Amino acid sequence: MKERYIAVFDSGLGGISVLRSLLSALPQERYLYYGDSANAPYGGRPTQEARALTLAAAAELAGRGIKALVVACNTATAAAIADLREIYPDLIVVGMEPALKPAVDRFPGGRIGVMATELTLREEKFAGLLDRVGTGCQVYPISAPGLVELVEAGLGESAAAEELLRPILAPYAGKLDALVLGCTHFPFAAGVIGRLLPGTALFDGGAGTAHQTRRRLEAAGLLWDGPGQVIFENSDPSPERLALCARLLGTAGA
Ligand code: DGL
Repeated sequence: MKERYIAVFDSGLGGISVLRSLLSALPQERYLYYGDSANAPYGGRPTQEARALTLAAAAELAGRGIKALVVACNTATAAAIADLREIYPDLIVVGMEPALKPAVDRFPGGRIGVMATELTLREEKFAGLLDRVGTGCQVYPISAPGLVELVEAGLGESAAAEELLRPILAPYAGKLDALVLGCTHFPFAAGVIGRLLPGTALFDGGAGTAHQTRRRLEAAGLLWDGPGQVIFENSDPSPERLALCARLLGTAGA
């Protein structure tokens, strides 16, 4: 059982930013990363659609005898985490939410942007997060339509990303203490984002998710002591897609 895979799921390639954190916290584990790039992005879809896609991917992964499922996607978590926990009561299921708490802890009473998909920002889960940890701060929800597509094309750190983000972030330049990257694709544009918002601290949920995964596996006595392994699978199985997975694993990080 311990040697079974930890499945890491995202709508596409964004979850590779979380996989990097998992590898640094738990390097000896075996990971099966599944990205649904053929159907990405999820973030502009109706919630029902994103939920159905997430449940279909999870069913496929769960059928392969995994020991844990990490939903390395804020959008899929917002759409489907409650259903996943109900359908797989015996599986370790770890979801994600924008890393607002660490940002608030560092800047109590501060001005904090949360950049995430439209779906994440409109769902109840986000409203609950704001109620729980956002009090006393000024929180600015920011969506960035088009950025997930650029990351999926390997263009997170590019002139095109800078052109897309400049008008979105210009109103916040010099005004934010922190920006939470509440979509796992966005750490792949962290260089561009950081240049457009100098002096703003960036936060993402990768390390927190890895920590939570470690805690859950430890509590269940399911930590594996190696050798570690990473397998990439994608609903778009082209060689270019899989090559991009490997490249992003080497270069992610906010
Ligand atoms: N990576 C996903 C997230 O963390 C969103 C990407 C998408 O829109 O599909 O929210």
